[in-house]
Amino acid sequence: MCARPISVDDAAGWIPVCDLDRLKLEAIVRVAGRDLLVIWNEGNIVACERACPHEQADLALGQVTAGRLHCPRHAASFNLRDGTMTAGWPSPPLRLYPVRITGEQIWIEMQERQPGR
Ligand code: FES
Repeated sequence: MCARPISVDDAAGWIPVCDLDRLKLEAIVRVAGRDLLVIWNEGNIVACERACPHEQADLALGQVTAGRLHCPRHAASFNLRDGTMTAGWPSPPLRLYPVRITGEQIWIEMQERQPGR
């Protein structure tokens, strides 16, 4: 998460997604109109793709525990720091997106953090 405020000049590419109180209450928030999630993870905000990179299960139905997002379909989980998946699964990592917060508003930058995928 980045606490730097967004100025008008650098707001391009950033979309507002929800407020902090809602995220703390719900833990996993679907981003309207996008296949993305925002997750409250042990005091940090994480943005990621909604479809599991293994077999596209809806990760909005998953669980967050101990810094990991658990897929609702299989026994695999993702590290919310870097998107890596439980060892042994034939899958690319979970895509993560840069996040900022201004006041109570959470923003996601649509440029992905892992351009190699
Ligand atoms: S669909 Fe998510 S781990 Fe298989």
